[in-house]
Amino acid sequence: MRICVLTGAGISAESGIRTFRATDGLWEDHRIEDVATPEGFRRDPVLVHRFYNMRRADAARAQPNAAHRALARLARRHQVTLITQNVDDLHERGGSTDVIHMHGSLLGALCAACGHRFPATLVMRSLDRCPACGKQSTRPDIVWFGEIPYHMERIWAAVEDAEMFAAIGTSGQVYPAAGLAQHASRAGAATIELNLARSAVSRDFAQHRIGPATSVVPEWVDELCG
Ligand code: APR
Repeated sequence: MRICVLTGAGISAESGIRTFRATDGLWEDHRIEDVATPEGFRRDPVLVHRFYNMRRADAARAQPNAAHRALARLARRHQVTLITQNVDDLHERGGSTDVIHMHGSLLGALCAACGHRFPATLVMRSLDRCPACGKQSTRPDIVWFGEIPYHMERIWAAVEDAEMFAAIGTSGQVYPAAGLAQHASRAGAATIELNLARSAVSRDFAQHRIGPATSVVPEWVDELCG
């Protein structure tokens, strides 16, 4: 079966990585406009690098959980397109391959001057020089608010081709990711939302599994893998 899976911060929560909009979420003690916009980076690159260095260290310390591993197992039995909003590499470390990071990755760096992409170091500094053009304008290769998510052509095609669309651990607050379920449903896919609670787009899903990802995702995968 052709299954399109979209994940959000909730799938990594039980690995100890903070989500964004919970009461202890990242956006409770960091202003999005300061650390997750191109304007914030231009204003204070030191603050932005410090924010992503902290998130990169958290992700490096975290381990993939049973939900990440279950999705890798699912892809061994079905034709799975895995799209994530997450910038950690827990899907890859949990055994998934060809993960579509629509909001970029903490492992990637980008030169704001020449566009050169290269592997990020664990700690990035605003004085680092771009390996290609030598300018001190390196930034995390993360899609910030106001920027266009990556791989959208491939994402729309996978959503339209899917027989089933599942969203796991995402609040449905950020588009275009939040609109994918409705798009899949209109294209004829079955839809299921797996989350600790209802999201802003729960109405777009025909089925719901409420509970922690490390419980509901392996259960769902076991059903699909017989
Ligand atoms: N198991 C399942 N779901 C969980 C768990 C868990 N253990 N813990 C939290 N959740 C759910 C919450 O109920 C919520 O719906 O995960 C979701 C987390 O929501 P957000 O913090 O908004 O994260 P996300 O939906 O990934 O945010 C989308 O917003 O800030 C931007 O670019 C950022 O990619 C991010 C995007």
